Amino acid sequence: RISGPGTLIFFGVTGDLARKKLLPAVYDLAHRGLLPTSFGVIGFGRRDWSHEEFVAEARTWVEERARTPFDEDVWNQLAGGFRFVTGGFDDDDAYERLGEVLQELDDTRGTGGNRAFYLSIPPKAFEAVCGKLSEHGLADQAWEDPETGQQPWRRVVIEKPFGHDLLSARELNDVVESVFRPDDVFRIDHYLGKETVQNLLALRFANRLFEPLWNAQHVDHVQITMAEDIGIGGRAGYYDGVGAARDVIQNHLLQLLALTAMEEPVGFTADDLRAEKEKVLSAVKVPAHIASACARGQYAGGWQGGEKVTGYLEEEGFDPHSTTETFAAIRLEIATRRWDGVPFYLRAGKRLGRRVTEIAVVFKKAPNLLFHDNSGADFGQNAVVIRVQPDEGATLRIASKVPGTQMEVRDVTMDFSYGSSFTESSPEAYERLILDVLLGEPPLFPRHAEVEQSWRILDPFEEYWASLTEQPEPYAPGSWGPDSAHLLLAKDGRTWRRP
Ligand code: BG6
Repeated sequence: RISGPGTLIFFGVTGDLARKKLLPAVYDLAHRGLLPTSFGVIGFGRRDWSHEEFVAEARTWVEERARTPFDEDVWNQLAGGFRFVTGGFDDDDAYERLGEVLQELDDTRGTGGNRAFYLSIPPKAFEAVCGKLSEHGLADQAWEDPETGQQPWRRVVIEKPFGHDLLSARELNDVVESVFRPDDVFRIDHYLGKETVQNLLALRFANRLFEPLWNAQHVDHVQITMAEDIGIGGRAGYYDGVGAARDVIQNHLLQLLALTAMEEPVGFTADDLRAEKEKVLSAVKVPAHIASACARGQYAGGWQGGEKVTGYLEEEGFDPHSTTETFAAIRLEIATRRWDGVPFYLRAGKRLGRRVTEIAVVFKKAPNLLFHDNSGADFGQNAVVIRVQPDEGATLRIASKVPGTQMEVRDVTMDFSYGSSFTESSPEAYERLILDVLLGEPPLFPRHAEVEQSWRILDPFEEYWASLTEQPEPYAPGSWGPDSAHLLLAKDGRTWRRP
């Protein structure tokens, strides 16, 4: 899988994501030999940078963040196709210059008129950028290369948030799809680019063992956790008013739920896979009583890992009365024969005990359990846990006899870890996704209908939280969230796993 010629145009190239992930990922692709020599990268932004200054900046980002070693030859070849266009998102002259630079790259580097516009910008700027690209003819699909007879491609990559509710997501989509064909729109959910997330498909559908048990008859419940130990730090501008549920539950966690719960796709084409995800998302029931199906919290100040940390409300530049949640948990059910009555608990939060993302499928106990144990109420509950990150892998919890003369039984775990099973290293999620964009392979990019379904599921929770007058419940940094999150499961006679 090696990309053909083309140019990647980064809008928002001076932002955090481009510096930390996107440009380093492009370098890694080049280092692994997955980019052709006829390749260009254009940064578009307000800075008054020359091409040379852009190259120098990008080099520091790559040296700091790339996964593969820095190699002068690889860098010089890649950076030979770097250009910078200075301008605001609605600056007509800048789009004229962008057109000239694109043409120059086609002429001098043979990029073949193929373009992917990567919008790593606030959604409110989508309309301006898409509109200007269209007005200046930069997104036109209409012409054919007279030499090859091929139509060069025009693709757009958009970063979340895809709106802040169902209505705004629809509006945003209308804007983007008024300029680009639906098949040319690549919505990034970087969780789908993670090795372990894709392995979920292999685990479920390449084995015989799991699928017969993967249903309401055997599964007690599912827990999907995305915990981070970091706070919001300097991201107030983005995070405040968004919160944990919109930031990661609407996208990453609901995608994980979809992959865990969907039926086996007919194949692994984009249409097959996305149709199954969409189907299961559309079967997710919005709880009749929202208040008892959710919990939210906000991290307080205190000590975490021996370090003093500030609370969310005291972070610099934050609204001291902000009701934005930094922790959210919701309980969902899926109205299908396979999942009838099985709760899916989703939680996500900042400043929690440790950084970990996992999916735990917890099974019912064996009927007529002969053995007793003092190790806890969940003794004898088998669980398949997919560790998305870190320590990528999966575990299977089973009961086993404790060595000795007595018949004592205890839960143990069988552990599969990528580190000890494979010598191959995993590419960064962005590397794979950028390569897929260049190759025009959309399976890992959610379709608009999936995004709509996710908002349909989340909107009632957001509306409920917006109607509350009290602050989200504070929780101690380094803890596992507010008490209400524990109560959410306790009400059902269950407990959260301690990853
Ligand atoms: C992003 C969220 O999508 O994912 C961030 O906006 C979050 O708030 C990040 O920190 C986590 O990504 P990862 O890959 O480190 O789990």
